[in-house]
Amino acid sequence: MPTEQGNAQDPPHPPATGLGRRRALFAAGAVLAAGAGAAAEGLVRDDRAADGASGAPAASAAIPFHGVRQAGVTAPQQPTTQLLALDLPRTSAAAGRKALRGVLGELTGVLATAASDAPKDLRLQGGGTTRLTSLVGIGPALSDRLGLDVPSVLGELPPFPGDRLDPRRSGGDLLVQLCAADRWTLTVVAELVVGAARTAGVVLRWSQSGFLPPTAPGTTPRNLFGSKDGTANPDRAAAEQWVWGPPGAHGNGTVLVYRRIHMDVTGFAALPESHRDRAVGRRTRDGVALGGTAEHDEPDIYAKHPDGSYVLPATAHVRLASPRFDGGARMLRRSYSYDDGPDDRGLLFCAFMRDPGRFTRVQNRLADRDALNPFLQHRASAVAYVLPGAAPSGSLGDQLWT
Ligand code: HEM
Repeated sequence: MPTEQGNAQDPPHPPATGLGRRRALFAAGAVLAAGAGAAAEGLVRDDRAADGASGAPAASAAIPFHGVRQAGVTAPQQPTTQLLALDLPRTSAAAGRKALRGVLGELTGVLATAASDAPKDLRLQGGGTTRLTSLVGIGPALSDRLGLDVPSVLGELPPFPGDRLDPRRSGGDLLVQLCAADRWTLTVVAELVVGAARTAGVVLRWSQSGFLPPTAPGTTPRNLFGSKDGTANPDRAAAEQWVWGPPGAHGNGTVLVYRRIHMDVTGFAALPESHRDRAVGRRTRDGVALGGTAEHDEPDIYAKHPDGSYVLPATAHVRLASPRFDGGARMLRRSYSYDDGPDDRGLLFCAFMRDPGRFTRVQNRLADRDALNPFLQHRASAVAYVLPGAAPSGSLGDQLWT
């Protein structure tokens, strides 16, 4: 097991919660806003260490592409993202498998080179390493068509009340998430990815960009409602249990659930601060759960006021999303904001979990009565099995064919 650098002083945490103040940073990924230092990264780069890398890389060092798990999940969350969904041609299963092998090989080459100390493209050579991280995942429909070796829990999400999903911005045979410190890198690498895919007969289905606010290392970024978003993420042990696949063939893979959620930012901002706090169940100002004292205190869903009413209202977002209703199950949320014009801003909800059934259970509760609902609309959706990482001599997806 990798060591938990920087956490030797941590006080013990209740095992049931799987959540701790600094430990949460491991899996949440401390945000590397531009210029953030290596110390924060050292807290989270556990999987690369497991691959043989020693210590935390300097802030300017490339983030290794190769490893047992894809860096797009394990590296600290970066300030900008670009999601790309790709579709394979509809052919026979045999031809489809060949096309998939081809495109995964192409993507591995492009992503590894772009993330390296020596990217080939001139446009990536100007400002030191790109610090690109990426992940590639397989959609459930493709897996069904080609009979791939993916976790049995991988499947399409059911429809939820209130969904207004645009199929042109949803789904996809392959999902690629690029993350970097700056937009330039993402634009160039996205072009390389789409070009490489095209040579294998694979076309772009949709693309979506997102961003985070500048955030000090080790602190939680805010979403467009102004709330700290990503506080209650699993620690390392909880992530092994709830985020990564079960030990075995899929142990270094995970499932990404993506939702493009439109937010009525102006409408929510017009609420008095106390209403906003009660809708979320945490104080907007500092992210502390109602009734708690520090941001990383676990929300207490049982606490009551002297009059018998719950401190965390029945419709509070964090009450309805609480792992306590789900046998302790957790998901790793690494969401981004998006801005597609003044009438369409919101959240690119990106969460990693072993079993997407966890998302379905939470979303059913949220769709039913979340106090945030009047201000939200789910407009796109995708699910993908995030492949294990690629070995230096191998390709993404090498495990799919066994
Ligand atoms: C735009 C829509 C959403 C907004 C603005 C939002 C915002 C927040 C905020 C502010 C928190 C508290 C801080 C934190 O722990 O990160 C939170 C927690 C959480 N949210 Fe959301 N969220 C949204 C959608 C969703 C969806 C769709 C799901 C899953 C179906 C979800 C699941 C969770 C979970 C699991 C927690 C942690 C609960 C806990 O362990 O205390 N959220 N969200």
